[in-house]
Amino acid sequence: MIYEPAEDSFLLQTQVKKFVKPGIKVLDMGTGSGIQAKTAKELGAEVLAVDINTECVEKVNTLNIKTIQSNLFQNIKGKFDLIIFNPPYLPEDKREPEDSKISTTGGKQGSEILNKFLGQAKNHLKTNGKILIVVSSLTKGINKQNYKFTKLKEQKIPDEILSVYLIE
Ligand SMILES: C[S@@+](CC[C@H](N)C(=O)[O-])C[C@H]1O[C@@H](n2cnc3c(N)ncnc32)[C@H](O)[C@@H]1O
Repeated sequence: MIYEPAEDSFLLQTQVKKFVKPGIKVLDMGTGSGIQAKTAKELGAEVLAVDINTECVEKVNTLNIKTIQSNLFQNIKGKFDLIIFNPPYLPEDKREPEDSKISTTGGKQGSEILNKFLGQAKNHLKTNGKILIVVSSLTKGINKQNYKFTKLKEQKIPDEILSVYLIE
C-alpha cells in the first residue's frame, strides 16, 4: 500500500520548495508516492529516493527518479546536501490496519523510527547538510541527539498539530 499524500506531505512539500536549489544532492527517505522526490527533481536537484516498501520503489522508479529499497540507510552510500523524511510518526494504535502501519506508526511512542534515522543520518550529511522532517504533536520521545532543531511551519488538523523542522 502506497501512502496517499496528505496534509503532512503537503506541509513538508512547502519547505522542500524553499530549500532545494538546482544541482544539490537530495535524499528522499520514505518516498512513498514520490511527492517530495518529484518536487525536488523538478527544482533541479539530483535526487535519490528510498523506501522500505518495494511497491513504492517500483512506483517511484517509473517517475524517472532513481529509487532504492532500503530500511533507513542500510543500502545507502554517499552524502547529501539535503535529506527529506516524512516518517511514520504516530504512536502504536491497535485500531490501525496492518497494511497502513508501515507508513504511519513510528513505534510505541511514535518517534522510534525517526530516532534511528537521526542516528544514521549523521554519516550521510555533507558539511552544512540539512534535514527536513515533519512530525505530529502526538509524536513523543524525539531524541534530538546533537542536532539543532528549528521549527519552520506548523498546521492544526483535527486532534493534532503537524510541524516541519529544519535539522542541522
Ligand atoms: C508517511 S509516509 C510518507 C510518504 C511520502 N514521503 C509523503 O511525504 O507523502 C512514510 C513512508 O516511509 C516509509 N518507511 C517506513 N519505515 C521505513 C524505513 N525503516 N525505511 C525506509 N522507509 C520507511 C513507508 O513505507 C512510507 O512510504
